[in-house]
Amino acid sequence: MFAGRRIVLGVTGGVAAYKAAYLARRFIELDAEVRTVMTPAAEQFIGAATFAALTGTNPVTDLFGGTDVSPHTTLAAWADLIVVAPTTAATLSKLAHGESSNALTATVLATRAPVVVAPAMHTEMWEHPATRENVAIIERFGYTVIPPESGALAGGDHGVGRLADPEMIVAVVDGILGTGDLEGEVVLVTAGGTRESIDPVRYIGNRSSGKMGNAVARSAVDRGARVILVSAGTAPSDLGGIQFVPVESAADMAEAAWTHAPQCTIAVMTAAVADFRPKEPRSDKLRRAEGLPDIDLEPTPDVLKGVHESDPRPYLVGFAAEVGSLDTAVDKAKRKGVDLLVANDVAIEGSGFGSDNNQVAMVTPLGDVEHLPLMPKADVATAIWDRVVEARRSTPRT
Ligand code: PMT
Repeated sequence: MFAGRRIVLGVTGGVAAYKAAYLARRFIELDAEVRTVMTPAAEQFIGAATFAALTGTNPVTDLFGGTDVSPHTTLAAWADLIVVAPTTAATLSKLAHGESSNALTATVLATRAPVVVAPAMHTEMWEHPATRENVAIIERFGYTVIPPESGALAGGDHGVGRLADPEMIVAVVDGILGTGDLEGEVVLVTAGGTRESIDPVRYIGNRSSGKMGNAVARSAVDRGARVILVSAGTAPSDLGGIQFVPVESAADMAEAAWTHAPQCTIAVMTAAVADFRPKEPRSDKLRRAEGLPDIDLEPTPDVLKGVHESDPRPYLVGFAAEVGSLDTAVDKAKRKGVDLLVANDVAIEGSGFGSDNNQVAMVTPLGDVEHLPLMPKADVATAIWDRVVEARRSTPRT
């Protein structure tokens, strides 16, 4: 499951470094996004330009001197998975001992993503007790080690130590990425606050930024889903794996969401959609001199309702923006026909609109209500997906 997944390929200084170029190309062919990080020794064997050409981004080769003041933490946070291939005995030792003196080892130390290590070295080095111990240590960290094969080695030697077949490395990476519990799902997310034109300059809007929807979309991609994000808010800084559909008004959002909904297995409606719009938006600018305008309003389309009526209907997660008590949320969940309602009191300081955090309650139409503490929107997204996955395990897919 490579599409849209972000792979950091670490390359160290062994003769098998040329095979890393093949790996980079394979990951790209499989629609992954690839960035590379190289040790200084790797550059003795293969040029950074090779990886730049294959991946479209310059490899990170140094902790210092680039435009990014912290390239290792940037890469570490970006990665869905890090694969170090080939891994020399020296780098293996550094990984085992948390030694972060170069960009590659610092990136691995800084990541929370799964790490795959494919060693390549001479037989004597591979079989040395120090290397055996280092392998055992990194396996205890949870790293996946792909042992080397037997074959021709540098200097005309022969024995165990040759880098595993690159296709085997691809298969192992696929197995790890493919464990996403939303694999095979197509997810529709609505996000942001719609804008309803009064005239070419002014609109009726609201305070939604799109952050909640962006977090839901990113989390779904990370768990293996294909995501369509229909948004009137700011686009995510990282669009990897996300089909982004920008919209402005409730009508635009309805059209886009209703077009995509029948192909989607799950829909999460985080958008703050205007309930009313000016009946006849002006084509010219309202002038102060004309006095107070009379603006007739009319209802906007109910985007969620249309998604609910689509055939087949996706598993439906609604949001509810309340002020104060969430007591009406169960009724709203029933009335809206959702499978799950995420209710938030948008009056709480540091929560809801525009904030990086949110305090929500998970509400089902059956009357279950679970209040969660204030937490980052990324964690709210995780909590939503945990519940959706759990619910869909016990309910047949529509
Ligand atoms: O975008 P952020 O700045 O990160 O802020 C996140 C948020 C506060 C906007 C989000 O957490 C949230 O509460 N979203 C729902 C906002 C809302 O409009 O709630 P509502 O109770 O008015 O609507 C109920 C549900 O119907 C929502 O899923 C909404 O998307 C949907 N709806 C409402 C009206 C309409 N015309 N069409 C709809 O689809």
